[in-house]
Amino acid sequence: MDAIGTARVPDHPTVQAALSLARRAPSVHNTQPWRWVFDGHRLQLYRDTARQLFSADPQGRQLVISCGAMLDHARTAFAAAGWDTTVTRLPDTAADHLATLDFAPARTVSDAVRAHATAIERRHTDRLPMLPPRDWDRVAPGLHTAAAAHDVTLGVLDDSARLRLAAASAQSAALREYDPQYLNELHWWAGNDSPADGVPISALVSAAELAQVGVGRAFPVAPPSLRRGELIDASRLLVIGSAADSPLDWLRTGEALSAVLLECTAAGLATCPLTHITEVPVSRRTIANLLPEPASPQVVVRVGTAPGSSALPPTPRRTVGDFLELHRAG
Ligand SMILES: Cc1cc2nc3c(=O)[nH]c(=O)nc-3n(C[C@H](O)[C@H](O)[C@H](O)COP(=O)(O)O)c2cc1C
Repeated sequence: MDAIGTARVPDHPTVQAALSLARRAPSVHNTQPWRWVFDGHRLQLYRDTARQLFSADPQGRQLVISCGAMLDHARTAFAAAGWDTTVTRLPDTAADHLATLDFAPARTVSDAVRAHATAIERRHTDRLPMLPPRDWDRVAPGLHTAAAAHDVTLGVLDDSARLRLAAASAQSAALREYDPQYLNELHWWAGNDSPADGVPISALVSAAELAQVGVGRAFPVAPPSLRRGELIDASRLLVIGSAADSPLDWLRTGEALSAVLLECTAAGLATCPLTHITEVPVSRRTIANLLPEPASPQVVVRVGTAPGSSALPPTPRRTVGDFLELHRAG
């Protein structure tokens, strides 16, 4: 049941429908490291450490960022279905418990919410080279507002920073070129065709395409191709940064990442989150030094215009039943 009517909380089918949309949220290596529990009144979000990348992400920072992206996607999906949500972040001392959602029927559904909810299905990670973002001056203020609403900052790097970011990207790849644990984990999650998770080969780029981008993660390479011709990447490079580096900062970063990606998608722009550079301390420090204001760099986002059609098959997702536990209302 949606909020039109007398219900004070969404029913099970509404929760399932909202999370079915929200599961399109981005996550590191498409690990989808979340678990939800609905008790008939409140919805609880837990991190799923069985899906953590123990080599690339030993602290679970990107795991929590991914859960934050899922949280914002879920709130957007509920809002579009007529349900306002109030979040309590890190509600208790249980390390895996990340958030509690309380519901209230919404009086109205704004155009901005509808635009973000529609963008959820269209958004995907675009690893190919991009043109500069169209109408950047019109889009940028909304991205800063979205980040500020989540207590994080959005640093926009200038063109002179690109070469140094590319050097940091190459450095992070070189440092792990012979790290069997990192490489095994990467090949476990990327380049295979799992029906439920991971990064499929269709979403990856060839060696030549990766070279045209310069700052991408060195995933297993797709077969030779040059899908955007000789285009050299001219995307804007954004950095989501937080004041500190705690689990709350990570959760907020993920929520902001979701909002920024959906805002860009709604504006017709292509996006690609990048974290290989923030996984390695030395390259993370390089990014910190490139930021206009001091912050702890969490995620780099490439934003640009995709020439022509960028339609790719959607990346896989687990079913809602895989990550949602439903309890009877008490
Ligand atoms: C925290 C986080 C880190 C990510 N890091 C990278 C990255 O370093 N390189 C990359 O190409 N994609 C990265 N991604 C994008 C994911 O690989 C992508 O969201 C996932 O494979 C699902 O695909 P989709 O975004 O197309 O739905 C990241 C996403 C998140 C949320």
